[in-house]
Amino acid sequence: MRLRVILAVLMAITLSVSVSVAEAQDENLVRKEMAALDKAFKITIDAVVLNQPEKIAPAFAEVQKIKEQVEQAVKGKKKIALPRNQNKFKVFVKLDNRFHHEVGALVLAAKKNRMRAVNRQAHNLLNMCVRCHDIFRKKA
Ligand code: HEC
Repeated sequence: MRLRVILAVLMAITLSVSVSVAEAQDENLVRKEMAALDKAFKITIDAVVLNQPEKIAPAFAEVQKIKEQVEQAVKGKKKIALPRNQNKFKVFVKLDNRFHHEVGALVLAAKKNRMRAVNRQAHNLLNMCVRCHDIFRKKA
């Protein structure tokens, strides 16, 4: 229980989540993706802490759908607005693709009940959230 609280606090600080999911449901594709991701990742943290790997794959279903929309937009050369470093859009796409590759590994490990791999992937993903935000999210 204590670990869960610490993790929750850590996440809140690292991501400085200040915008509610409801507010994020506008036309901005990245924000839409992030709202889904945020939800799925919190479920993942709980699943790791409570040893419930079966909760993980379903949690990422919505993320996958939005990821496909992002891919379509990128392919169609539609503009995806980033709060910072728009000129590094290619880096964003690369990080996003890499991120989703790691999500795939997380979901696979969860389906196979490999908790050590699940745990490792959860850590990897957290690092990737922070890394991408460091470049592309607005500084406070
Ligand atoms: C490939 C880059 C990238 C990765 C990886 C990434 N994010 Fe984001 N995230 C962004 C960008 C860019 C924004 C700012 C979007 C905006 O304000 O338009 C953002 C914003 C957010 C927001 C605020 C949403 C809002 O409406 O302001 C949350 C919450 C969030 N991310 C959660 C996460 C979580 C949790 C992870 C990891 C599990 C993650 N993100 C991984 C790029 C990323």
